[in-house]
Amino acid sequence: MPVNIYNKEVVKIETYKNYIDGKWTSSQTRKTFFSLNPATEQPIGNFQDSDENDVEAAVLAAEKSFPLWRDTPAPKRAEILFKIRDLLKEEKDRLAKLEVKEMGKVYKEAAGDVQEAIDIFEYMAGEGRRLFGRTTPSELRNKFNATIRTPIGVVGLITPWNFPIAIPSWKLAPALICGNTMIFKPSSDTPLCGIELMKIMIKADLPKGVVNLVTGSGKKVGTPMIRHPRIHGLSFTGSRDTGKFIRENAGLKKVNLELGSKNAIIIMEDANLNLALEGVLWGAFGTTGQRCTAASRIIVHEKVFNKFEKMLVNVAKKLRVGYGLNKSTDIGPLINKAALQKSYLYTDIGKKEGAKLLCGGKGIKGKGFFFKPTIFTNVNPLSRLAQEEIFGPITVLIKIKNIDEAIKVCNGIKYGLSSAIYTENMKYAFRAINELEFGITYVNSSTIGAEVHLPFGGTKDTGWGKEAGWSLDEFSEEKAIYIDFSGRLQKAQGIN
Ligand code: UN1
Repeated sequence: MPVNIYNKEVVKIETYKNYIDGKWTSSQTRKTFFSLNPATEQPIGNFQDSDENDVEAAVLAAEKSFPLWRDTPAPKRAEILFKIRDLLKEEKDRLAKLEVKEMGKVYKEAAGDVQEAIDIFEYMAGEGRRLFGRTTPSELRNKFNATIRTPIGVVGLITPWNFPIAIPSWKLAPALICGNTMIFKPSSDTPLCGIELMKIMIKADLPKGVVNLVTGSGKKVGTPMIRHPRIHGLSFTGSRDTGKFIRENAGLKKVNLELGSKNAIIIMEDANLNLALEGVLWGAFGTTGQRCTAASRIIVHEKVFNKFEKMLVNVAKKLRVGYGLNKSTDIGPLINKAALQKSYLYTDIGKKEGAKLLCGGKGIKGKGFFFKPTIFTNVNPLSRLAQEEIFGPITVLIKIKNIDEAIKVCNGIKYGLSSAIYTENMKYAFRAINELEFGITYVNSSTIGAEVHLPFGGTKDTGWGKEAGWSLDEFSEEKAIYIDFSGRLQKAQGIN
């Protein structure tokens, strides 16, 4: 058992294994890696640094268990999902605390993450008694046509660290209810959250081989999954670059991609500015800006621009950055050193591009990957600072003259996940609803906080497909069924 040498007291670090075919198994590589607490930079666990041989073992286990799981009636599969929901509820506090330690977000947000997992398991368990197909008339007499939902088979789930319990659950719950078996690769920044979720599924009596967990790097575990010829579906949440790599390397798999974004809040001249202020703070700095839905562009009408800028900077300066388990903390650390360096890099880029830094722009001395809430103003909407995803607590203010310009600026990026408008004017609101090229539009609310039973996903470079409650199509095929009871060969299309 390796020892945590970073701690003054000697703390033993546990070594966690892969879970393949119902057994906790060491990787064939015999190598391991640490997961760090981003607030203290101390290791919290030691994990299997797996490779393609472990992926192969997991695929074999998933293939072996597939017929049994497919043939288990969906309402019976649902009983296990309901049990997972119940166990997540019982363990909510423990899991949330663990998530703060491994991922860094503040406790109340971590509890929200676990709640999102509870919600999706409950919602998908309900699907066990729906999973509707359709019936439709035939063009011929004495013939019956219908569709049923069938699973894809063995699927791969590659999940991110920013919602380390919720997003794996967004994929696991629908994949399970549809009857697939799977390989689950949690992010290397949050493998312990993945292991704990796995333990809960085991406790809920999930049959062996249905979910196989393999930890390790994108290169050595993710890539073999992406390229694996017998994994037929792949659901990925992460960076645009990896999304592109998947498109080029996944062959003809069914692929669901939820990639980056550069979301915006529009604040019109008639907006309730206090309400907008709360929405901007929450959207830009919640989860330390590490949400695909984070509000990283604030597009403000010139009539209220100066006033709103002052209001925002005043409050942002007072936000307390610190350890997520301290009750007084508003903003936790970034996930790792690379993320911290990226926030510094974009602060420099912003300054070089001529944007004005109003607050933040730097970290905090000592251990931990902390970065202060950062606001730039006078930002050119076409600059790198306003175009590229940073995934940190950095937001920019952009001045506009009217609703046409607001919509044009908002749409003027390659991404399209979440958008918001603050206004009391119905015309503005409906123009935003109709014209913003995003998968999500909020009216008088922030860009973050999607509920699990609505479609989650974006347009343009944000990727394809829908996540969470709207993802049955990602994890099943709607199969066409024709039943001819005429007793003779009837040919469609009028052929005699
Ligand atoms: C993400 O950032 O990848 O809507 C997911 C939200 C959360 C999920 C965000 N419910 O912000």
